[in-house]
Amino acid sequence: MEMPRKLLAAGALALLAAGPAVAQEIDEALAAEGERVWRQCQACHQIGEGAQNRVGPHLNGVIGRQAGSLEGFRYSNAMVEAGEEGLVWDEPTLEDYLENPRAKVPGTSMAFAGLRQEQQRDAVVEYIKASGGLDNDG
Ligand code: HEC
Repeated sequence: MEMPRKLLAAGALALLAAGPAVAQEIDEALAAEGERVWRQCQACHQIGEGAQNRVGPHLNGVIGRQAGSLEGFRYSNAMVEAGEEGLVWDEPTLEDYLENPRAKVPGTSMAFAGLRQEQQRDAVVEYIKASGGLDNDG
């Protein structure tokens, strides 16, 4: 009985340790697919070198950032409050927001209906990661 339990614990630890590392890896094929989905975001958002705030904030370094916290962008009160209450953008929270922005952050000023297909959400988040979303200096 001792042995298997120890093995289980070791397995769980290994999984926990693998989590963040996996998130940094880019799936190039999925990111390429996400570039097509990104066209829906482009009207309002920029990402990558030289990205500026437009209708929406630039999304460089968005992953790991507190929601509504980019200096120099006028967010809705709802977004600022969501961030102050602990909303941080990571893969799951981004996917929730992108599925239904007004359900995740009621009162958000992002006028976007949402991406209904999980595949589109996965792909666009991968594109964001590949394009500057992980760069916290941008
Ligand atoms: C019509 C313009 C518009 C479109 C289209 C749009 N957004 Fe936004 N987005 C905004 C605005 C405005 C905000 C700020 C929302 C607020 O303050 O409530 C925002 C906020 C965000 C945030 C939060 C950023 C932060 O700093 O907290 C993310 C992430 C985001 N958008 C991603 C996307 C993605 C990905 C798409 C495409 C699938 C998209 N948006 C489409 C206008 C848009």
